[in-house]
Amino acid sequence: MSEVLLEIKNLKKYFEVGKNQTLKAVDDVSFQIYKGETLGLVGESGCGKSTLGRTIMRLYHPTSGEVLYNGKTISGHLSRGEEKECCRKMQMIFQDPYMSLDPRMKVVDIVAEGLDSQNTALSRSEREEQVVKLLEMVGLQKEHVGRFPHEFSGGQRQRIGIARALAINPEFIVADEPISALDVSIQAQVVNLLKKLQDEFSLTYLFIAHDISMVKYISNRIGVMYLGSLVELTSSQTMFDNPLHPYTQALLSAIPLPDPKAEKKRSRVVLEGTVPSPVNIPDGCKFCSRCRYATDECRKTTPNFHEVEEGHWVACHRYKKP
Ligand SMILES: Nc1ncnc2c1ncn2[C@@H]1O[C@H](COP(=O)(O)OP(=O)(O)OP(=O)(O)O)[C@@H](O)[C@H]1O
Ligand SMILES: [Mg+2]
Repeated sequence: MSEVLLEIKNLKKYFEVGKNQTLKAVDDVSFQIYKGETLGLVGESGCGKSTLGRTIMRLYHPTSGEVLYNGKTISGHLSRGEEKECCRKMQMIFQDPYMSLDPRMKVVDIVAEGLDSQNTALSRSEREEQVVKLLEMVGLQKEHVGRFPHEFSGGQRQRIGIARALAINPEFIVADEPISALDVSIQAQVVNLLKKLQDEFSLTYLFIAHDISMVKYISNRIGVMYLGSLVELTSSQTMFDNPLHPYTQALLSAIPLPDPKAEKKRSRVVLEGTVPSPVNIPDGCKFCSRCRYATDECRKTTPNFHEVEEGHWVACHRYKKP
């Protein structure tokens, strides 16, 4: 059995937006991340993926619920020592390689930020030496240390962001749409780099993406979010072979098949309507306004997120607990 690295328990992150208006960006999400795995997290824009990632990373205080790292709560107040330890073990890679690097800083200082924050007493040359090592690890060169972010392409900038995240030997990385802003031709290179680094340093990833086909290749398991909730979670393979939630089925049926014959034959599940506003969501299943199977039960009661077969979790009234 795999070892659990992170446990997310009934996590909620609400934002107060205006008078008596609560935006439930993350609404009672529970799941575990195993050591060494890549968990892909997908869902439409605004469903709460980044908020969930940021809350796990302690960039937001949760409204309620908790996050446990190696069995220890990290979502509440931590001592300075614990906080520092936490920062070292968990790192984040951001979507926009143009926004996430300070344009006034040289590459050497960007990448060494992590080293400096851990107060490792390094001399100037040792510090630069370490940065060069990191740059080479992500496919950049020694000559790049003295340059500024604008002198690089999007793919190269993302590599700088990855080098910065790796600088302090993290165990767990939240990659928030790390390839979405890149050209399609560069995306595979960055994914391959992340995979290589994962093997080399036994990293665990939470890999966030819009598009379910984008995470198929890199993820061991995939979680699908809808309006702040996790609606399905299972292995990558099962998610594609036997998706249970009507929302996942719709997401998958939107991916074009490479074989034109198969493409012509298959039936499409078309999603009707748009995602409702996450402010003041009514009771019942959040997906019911767009679900072709919706019944009165779905409109009244929120379905529990439960395990319907081993390792396959779903929140839908169509699948009852065995
Ligand atoms: N700081 C904030 N204050 C108020 N509302 C917020 C804040 N951050 C996010 N939200 C809202 O929370 C919801 C979830 O946003 P989030 O950025 O987590 O979605 P996402 O799934 O990452 O979307 P995308 O795919 O576009 O990145 C959205 O409705 C968003 O407007
Ligand atoms: Mg996001």
